[in-house]
Amino acid sequence: MRTPTPADKFTFGLWTIGYNGTDPFGGPTRPPLDVVHAVEKLAELGAAGLTFHDDDLFAFGSSDSERQTQIDRLTGALADTGLTVPMVTTNLFSAPVFKDGGFTSNDRAVRRFAIRKVLRQIDLGAELGAETFVMWGGREGAEYDSAKDVRAALERYREAVNFLGDYVVEKGYNLRFAIEPKPNEPRGDILLPTVGHALAFIESLERPELVGLNPEVGHEQMAGLNFAAGIAQALYHGKLFHIDLNGQRGIKYDQDLVFGHGDLHNAFALVDLLENGGPNGGPAYDGPRHFDYKPSRTEDETGVWDSAAANMRTYLLLKERAQAFRADPEVQEALEAARVAELSQPTFAEGETYDDFVGDRSAYEDFDADAYLGGHGFGFVRLQQLATEHLLGAR
Ligand code: GCO
Ligand code: MN
Ligand code: MN
Ligand code: MN
Repeated sequence: MRTPTPADKFTFGLWTIGYNGTDPFGGPTRPPLDVVHAVEKLAELGAAGLTFHDDDLFAFGSSDSERQTQIDRLTGALADTGLTVPMVTTNLFSAPVFKDGGFTSNDRAVRRFAIRKVLRQIDLGAELGAETFVMWGGREGAEYDSAKDVRAALERYREAVNFLGDYVVEKGYNLRFAIEPKPNEPRGDILLPTVGHALAFIESLERPELVGLNPEVGHEQMAGLNFAAGIAQALYHGKLFHIDLNGQRGIKYDQDLVFGHGDLHNAFALVDLLENGGPNGGPAYDGPRHFDYKPSRTEDETGVWDSAAANMRTYLLLKERAQAFRADPEVQEALEAARVAELSQPTFAEGETYDDFVGDRSAYEDFDADAYLGGHGFGFVRLQQLATEHLLGAR
C-alpha cells in the first residue's frame, strides 16, 4: 500500500487534529496543538492542505496584532512545507454571542456582527488562496418550536448568503460557498438539516451558481440517510463543492470517527463513486478529500497522528479496492446482468411522440408483466456480495 502524497488532495481541519478531547461531560485530555507543529506533521504524513475557522487560528476576541502574528506563523509554515489552504470557514457557534445562531439569531445586532466576522475571514481566505468558503450553521436552529420563526430564519439566512455572494463578486475573489448540512447538535434542530434541504435553499438564492454543498458523512447518517446516495444527488445537481469525510455508527450523537470506522460498505460505495463514477469511469469529483473527524478523547498525541494517517490510509485502501472491483470481469458481468447501464438509456426513443408511445403495443398490450413473478431477477445481491468480497480483500 503506497503512502499518501499531496496529489491525493487530502486535507484536514485545524480543529480536527487540534481537538483537545473536550466533550459535554469532561474537559480536555490533550494539551493545545500549535498550528506550526500541525502543518509540519500533516506535511510529513503526506497531506496536501489545512483548513481552519478564524477562531482555530486566533482566539475569539484577539487583538489585530495577535491575529496577524498567528496568520504570519501559519503562512511561514505553509511556505516551509508546501501545504495549501484550499478552504476556510468562520466560527459562528462557540462564543456566547452566537448562542441563538449567527445569520439567524433572533437578535438583529448579533446577525450584523456575524456577517462582519464572516467578511474578515473571507478576506483572509482569499489572501491565502482558498477557493471554498464553508458555511456550517451549527447554531442556526432551535430547541423549541415557538422560539424560532423558521420561515423568517430562512429569509435571514438567504439575505446573509446573498450579501456574501455580492461581496466576493465585487471583490473579485475566486471563492465559492459550500453549505454544510447537519440535522442536530449543537441545536436540537438545525436549519438546512440535510443535503436535500440545502439543495432546495440554494436554488432560492440570487447567485445559486456561487453556492454548493459540503456534505459530511456522519451528518447525513445521523439522519439515517445513505451518504453515497446523497453525494450522487449533489453531483447530479453540480453542487459537490467540497466534502467532509469521517465515520459514524448509526443515528446518535455526532461521532466524527476516522473515515471508514463506521459504515464501511457505504464508505466503499462513496470512494467508488468519487474515484470511478465520472463519465469515463474516472473521478467524479476533483476537489479536496477533506477529513472532518475527531481523534478520540482516549488518545494521546501519538494517537492523534495515527488517526490522521488512518483516514488517508483507509481512503487509499478503499480506492484500491474499488479499482479492483471495477476491473473484475465477474463484477462487470454481474453489473451487466443487473442491467445497471440500462438505466442510462432514456425511457422514450428519440423523437418519440405521445401518439407513437401510446401506439406501441410492446409497451403495454403485449408486455408480459406476469413474467416478473418468479422471473427477471436482477442479481443485485450477487453484485453486493462481490463488492463485499473486494472490500474484504477476498478477491
Ligand atoms: C460539526 C461540523 C463542523 C464543520 C466546521 C466547518 O459537526 O462540528 O462538522 O466540524 O465542518 O465547522 O465549517
Ligand atoms: Mn460530524
Ligand atoms: Mn462535524
Ligand atoms: Mn463538518
